[in-house]
Amino acid sequence: MTQPIQIKVLDHGPLLVQGEVQLVDADGKQFSVPEGKPAIALCRCGLSKNRPFCDGAHKAGGFEAADRAPN
Ligand code: FES
Repeated sequence: MTQPIQIKVLDHGPLLVQGEVQLVDADGKQFSVPEGKPAIALCRCGLSKNRPFCDGAHKAGGFEAADRAPN
């Protein structure tokens, strides 16, 4: 049985996507996702120069968000 893709909301950082995914833009054109990597990090702070991927700019930008799922 295939494991579901997991998207983890990291504190003060990106969305970590674990599992094989296709990442496409609004026109349906595929972004190249590195093969063999266990996860990709998607920017949610808006500061990355390599969107939709996280480039670590959230740290210098002081992005704060520690979202938790409701109980
Ligand atoms: S979340 Fe890392 S650069 Fe935006």
